[in-house]
Amino acid sequence: MQHTLLHITDCHLVPQGERLLGADTHSNLQAVLQQACAEVQPDAVVATGDLVHGGTSELYPQLQHILRSFTDAPLLCMPGNHDCGEAMVQAGLPMEPLALGPWTVFALDSHEDDQPAAKVDDVERAALLTCWQSTKSEYGLLATHHPLLPIGSPWLDKDRISAPEDLLNELIDLAGPKFCGAIFGHVHQVVHGHYRRRPLLGTPSTGFQFPPRSQQFAVGERTPGYRWLTLGDNGQINSRVQWLH
Ligand SMILES: [Fe+2]
Repeated sequence: MQHTLLHITDCHLVPQGERLLGADTHSNLQAVLQQACAEVQPDAVVATGDLVHGGTSELYPQLQHILRSFTDAPLLCMPGNHDCGEAMVQAGLPMEPLALGPWTVFALDSHEDDQPAAKVDDVERAALLTCWQSTKSEYGLLATHHPLLPIGSPWLDKDRISAPEDLLNELIDLAGPKFCGAIFGHVHQVVHGHYRRRPLLGTPSTGFQFPPRSQQFAVGERTPGYRWLTLGDNGQINSRVQWLH
């Protein structure tokens, strides 16, 4: 049996009618969800941060409303650097580990409000490790906002999770084959990396993209995108990125 996970990220919602870097992020998110949910109804949705742009509280209910007009699937959200963690909590966005058959998706909060760089403090790190230690699930997927590897763009790489190998090694030591891979956002482009045979997958934004290997900030030409993951009952992860037609 397979479990179908829809990964969306970096929606950057702004008040309706406004644009961000030329993108109508409301319409783009609606179009992404319409296309994705017409392909397959997901078993779960994971949204890895920068859900709104500026973290104003009234945008989070709008995000949930858009999502819920296309799918009732269980949802896991985490904040990105453009989010406000407290506003997400107040809006009731689900941020607890998400169970899916023999799988659990664990979120690591790498954000600090209004700071682009990743920050994972000792409390968050310890909480994540405790979750992995105590899980009854057979397999786990880690979800973060910031990337866990360099992607060749210095202006993005400077903000990645620092010393990600330490965290990944700790998880692998602790969870062994239970730790099957990771997904992340922030990079607004496709990333397909590996660490010790586990996939590390970055997913395009539902709003607008950054060009791969750009040496400074730039907005790319590609359409909004999203990623499908199929999680097998044998621990296998298959995934593909889709772009908006
Ligand atoms: Fe973003």
